[in-house]
Amino acid sequence: MIIQQFTITPFQQNTRVVACEKTRKAICIDPGEECGEIVEFIRGGDFALQAITLTHGHLDHVGGTAYLREIFPDADVILHKDDEDLYYGLPQQPLFMGIQPHQMKALGFDYANPPKLTRNWVDGEIYSVGNLNFKVLHCPGHTRGHVVLAEENERKVFVGDCLFEGSIGRTDLPGGSYEQLMDSITNKILALGDDFTVYSGHGRETTVGREKSSNPFLTGAYQMTRGKYI
Ligand SMILES: [Fe+2]
Repeated sequence: MIIQQFTITPFQQNTRVVACEKTRKAICIDPGEECGEIVEFIRGGDFALQAITLTHGHLDHVGGTAYLREIFPDADVILHKDDEDLYYGLPQQPLFMGIQPHQMKALGFDYANPPKLTRNWVDGEIYSVGNLNFKVLHCPGHTRGHVVLAEENERKVFVGDCLFEGSIGRTDLPGGSYEQLMDSITNKILALGDDFTVYSGHGRETTVGREKSSNPFLTGAYQMTRGKYI
């Protein structure tokens, strides 16, 4: 598996291009903003972008979808149906964060309407990218329609904003639920196995085992109703 990370947006979000080495088929997980380097990487590596795969609908994860899709018009755009309201409401999302309409352009948050989704994730489905097979797990809590993508042979999981090194996703935004997030993390992500490498939407990569033993939200060291990141 080829994984190329681009840390972009004012939120230091991790956009990733993930590809099958053999077939050169690729996906872009969560394009956070317009970014020419991502396009150069896909073209330069002779990858075929089969889809823009979205873990959830927050602006720092979907803000670059329109740009990338315009350049790769054959790519699918996939999101869980329970985050469609966030996705199609992208131009209004900055209001959640207290950014007023007249400030949006100056702060770089003036989003156009995103392209129409081509399909929705289904919980439990296997999504293939060449020889890679991702299990799609619905993990609500940070948003209603959050999913994670787990590749069981490679022992890697892309968790978006569910889980971070030493923290968890925030649950105070619309559609968030601390109880649901803890249930998703415990029963879907930690259940994958300690040896899984965890690729988060912000911050460094970690492993399931490391988070189980040291993440204060999971060890019971403390409980809060919000984590660090949007
Ligand atoms: Fe988020």
